[in-house]
Amino acid sequence: MSVINARPNLLAIEALQGAQADRILELGVGSGWALQELARAVKHGRIWGIDQSADMIALAARRNHLWTHRASVSLARAKFEALPFPSESFDRILAVNVAYFFGSDGRAFREARRVLRPQGRMVIYVSDRATLANWPFAGEDTHRSFDRDELIAAIEDGGFARNEITVEPVSLPFGVSGLLGTVVRQP
Ligand SMILES: C[S@@+](CC[C@H](N)C(=O)[O-])C[C@H]1O[C@@H](n2cnc3c(N)ncnc32)[C@H](O)[C@@H]1O
Repeated sequence: MSVINARPNLLAIEALQGAQADRILELGVGSGWALQELARAVKHGRIWGIDQSADMIALAARRNHLWTHRASVSLARAKFEALPFPSESFDRILAVNVAYFFGSDGRAFREARRVLRPQGRMVIYVSDRATLANWPFAGEDTHRSFDRDELIAAIEDGGFARNEITVEPVSLPFGVSGLLGTVVRQP
């Protein structure tokens, strides 16, 4: 993974505080790099990862072969808007560089809230609108972009209360500015 992508993933994993968690879900695993970091950090819990792309699931499975072999990591092809898990299944949810693809109808955040346990924590990272504007591959036609208030509003649209949400600006190498969101679901 490039340094540009590694740094936000590491930041988000740290904010997730998942080392002692029992059940962790990553939304949009891509190549599976963060899953591998999580699998190394988590002491005894199990980790699930989903992605809509069969190619990404295959790549992530290859990278995490050891962990899937030990059954500490499971992968599924699924969409953010229809997670194949019962309600209140997870203690932690990691969502790095994926909210660009969450529709404005709030379904993806609602699904995340549904599968998150009370007291569970979700961490979201996006590069902010100013940074995306410098990336030709991340135009408004393919990527939803956010400033801080818009990310908070999008999380609220998913049913989280304002007092459950913290969003902090973060400065990363190579002039990247991002938003790190933490949501702790109240009972
Ligand atoms: C920019 S990549 C981020 C991957 C990884 N989290 C990272 O930070 O490197 C976004 C991922 O989300 C997946 N994706 C996009 N829309 C999705 C959807 N509606 N449901 C599930 N996965 C989706 C893509 O296939 C891709 O693997």
